[in-house]
Amino acid sequence: MTFFPYRNGRLHIEDVSLDELAARVGTPFFCYSAAAMESAYTSFVRALGDLPATVCYALKANSNQAVIRTFAQLGAGADVVSEGELRRALAAGVPASKVVFAGVGKQPSEMATALDAGILQFNVESLPELEALSRIAQEKGVRAPVALRINPDVDALTHAKISTGKAENKFGIDIPSLRGFLDSAAQLPGVRIEGLAVHIGSQITDVNPYRMAFERLVALFTELRDAGWPLERLDMGGGLGIAYEGDAAPDIARYAEIVRETTKGLDAKLIFEPGRFLTGNAGLLVTRTVYVKHGTARRFAIVDAAMNDLIRPTLYDAWHDILPVAQFAAGADREPYDIVGPICESSDIFAEQRELPPVAADDLLAICSSGAYGAVMSSSYNSRPPAPEILVRGNDYAVIRPRIDYDELIGQDRLPDWLDDGQQSSEPRGAA
Ligand code: LLP
Repeated sequence: MTFFPYRNGRLHIEDVSLDELAARVGTPFFCYSAAAMESAYTSFVRALGDLPATVCYALKANSNQAVIRTFAQLGAGADVVSEGELRRALAAGVPASKVVFAGVGKQPSEMATALDAGILQFNVESLPELEALSRIAQEKGVRAPVALRINPDVDALTHAKISTGKAENKFGIDIPSLRGFLDSAAQLPGVRIEGLAVHIGSQITDVNPYRMAFERLVALFTELRDAGWPLERLDMGGGLGIAYEGDAAPDIARYAEIVRETTKGLDAKLIFEPGRFLTGNAGLLVTRTVYVKHGTARRFAIVDAAMNDLIRPTLYDAWHDILPVAQFAAGADREPYDIVGPICESSDIFAEQRELPPVAADDLLAICSSGAYGAVMSSSYNSRPPAPEILVRGNDYAVIRPRIDYDELIGQDRLPDWLDDGQQSSEPRGAA
């Protein structure tokens, strides 16, 4: 089933035409299909079956309140990595008892806020972090629930920039150091070690590396329990990939089978932290072609979205499918285009030599799989207001983040006294 059908020759998201959305908010914009998100969530939960699992949606993939609440209403918790994400999760209605706080660099003030909220667990990655948490919890007269994140030294077979489970990565506690770590942890009065956690990377499409990571995690869990540590939970992390090119979708059933096999007979609650899997293929970035430029070597479609809106192709050489909003015949003639944005960097490129039916100025294009790590990684580089976001449900839609106007964008700056001659204005100087 597609959530992005062509109807009457034009691309839709669920039952809403992209032309209508473009007319409403202008381009570029992100739009998300609620049905696609719900379907991804349901398939994840169904695959896990009767495993004792809590799904904590990784907010970093897409932290719009409307998206978080969509998952919260389906029963999801949240995986947060900052006080900002914690506040978003709580504001969107995720119960604190289903919030996991991960990340290598939690600050004391962030820990204090999370302790006050009463979250489920802190995933701790170093001794200094554990000591800080213990100190703050003690000041508050509580004990912080902790899962220790292990670095299993497993290659997730994904892009180097989003691989996190190798010994040379900054993440997790090395297995050989764990014993000594626990001896120190036993002395800390403000923490209670309740679980272990692992996360080996993101956009994992070959699920085999999970097996080794989970086996190592479970072996440690059993060993520590046998040694008297009252462990209750295993956090299996996130990272399950999506198909960006129409193929190579990870086998979710095999993933669940690996979980089932590696945790068999273990009396432990499981936590999962999927992000991209739940939102990635639910979103489009819709952009309008500004000019088509014929260079000597290349044909460029210059569009009004840019690397500030979706940085994945620039940062990770990521492939995103690009669909013309005007329907085209399967056998239509195609020509190679470089789809580029207006930003003054050669790296501002969405696709190179992409075979598309002829593109003309004003044509709308949809950049697919933009629901995860799209809007959240956007910026206002080149003083471009970040693209707005729309959530679609059936034939209904809502703008869930409006485009900010130039006054708001520029008005965030402040002139110091020595430059302020009282003439700061959002109007260009010299304007009447
Ligand atoms: N849990 C932890 C501890 C993580 O570090 C991450 C992602 C997740 C869960 C969720 O991973 P997911 O299920 O979404 O793969 N900006 C990059 C992805 C960075 C992922 C960082 N950590 C991209 O656009 O590909």
